[in-house]
Amino acid sequence: MKDFAHQVFFWFLFFIASVTIVAIGFRNFDFYTLSFEERPFHERYDELKPSGIESHGYGIIGSCMIIFGVSMYSSRKRIRAFKNFGSIKYFLEFHIFLCLLGPVLVLYHTTFKFGGIVAVSFWSMTAVALSGIVGRYLYVQIPKGIKGDELTVKELEEKSIELYRELIEDFELDPVDLRKIDALASPKRTKSVSIVSLLTFFILNDLTRRGRLKSIVQHLHGKSVDTASIKKIIAVANERIKLLRRVHFLEQVKNLFHYWHVVHLPFSIIMFVILFIHVGVAITFGYTWIY
Ligand code: HEM
Ligand code: HEM
Repeated sequence: MKDFAHQVFFWFLFFIASVTIVAIGFRNFDFYTLSFEERPFHERYDELKPSGIESHGYGIIGSCMIIFGVSMYSSRKRIRAFKNFGSIKYFLEFHIFLCLLGPVLVLYHTTFKFGGIVAVSFWSMTAVALSGIVGRYLYVQIPKGIKGDELTVKELEEKSIELYRELIEDFELDPVDLRKIDALASPKRTKSVSIVSLLTFFILNDLTRRGRLKSIVQHLHGKSVDTASIKKIIAVANERIKLLRRVHFLEQVKNLFHYWHVVHLPFSIIMFVILFIHVGVAITFGYTWIY
């Protein structure tokens, strides 16, 4: 997918998800904020109770989104015949869209009432979706090629040398500024850092990088470099910092990502097993929605 088309598609999905979440929350706000004792007296109780036509529908649609979101990503990742169906990056984005919106619809299905054994399914789903956010953050720290396959340290180092050359040759950047840029890419210690310090370093580095690059911007302004060039220099510097950071910590991040699956995968399985029991019980008791 071309970059522009991809951006449009991404924002389209973001728009759909936000509008759906806000519209349902807004539409049924007065019901969700009532106490459980008062709810049966609400005029739309029959539609909005978990087995009612509207909330039951949210449960079914949300669950289908999750099931589809997981199976299409897994198929693309694991089945050889699907390897040429486009970049895995886009499949992951769609997995995230379906598996973020799906759980919110399921939340509306429960009407914020978490009773019985199915509550275990709900909390497992919540754990999976929240852990997904951490997983996605780690996932992007492992550099990939255009097709989504992982790059080797050698390929990364070559890319970072390219950026270094660009800064020296195209922009004639001062060695002092270059040293400042490189210093931003690694903490004092790179060997045997704990998981917590590793994550703290990455997150703080992301949050404070802009501010810390300001001294270089000021220096360039002082040397009367024009604003457009400064913007380009900062973009290249940012890219180099992220790349160097990834080279330094590639193995640690890969290990961490490996352990992350220990939360994401088993909780998904618990969620699905209890979901299937829940659906089986619902159908047995005659809750067949519109069918
Ligand atoms: C991950 C997906 C799902 C989760 C976490 C979930 C969770 C829940 C929860 C917490 C309740 C409320 C229990 C209570 O009243 O305290 C509920 C009720 C209900 N759910 Fe689901 N649900 C899911 C998907 C589905 C699906 C796909 C169906 C459709 C077959 C369904 C059908 C029902 C029905 C009929 C009730 C009402 C049961 C009653 O009033 O006795 N649910 N669900
Ligand atoms: C209820 C919701 C979710 C379920 C049931 C779920 C389930 C799964 C499963 C089973 C996989 C492994 C696929 C495979 O290796 O074959 C996976 C991968 C992944 N999920 Fe989710 N997921 C959910 C939500 C999310 C969310 C909300 C995010 C991010 C915000 C996310 C991020 C990821 C990432 C980054 C991977 C890639 C792992 C890899 O390829 O190594 N997931 N998910």
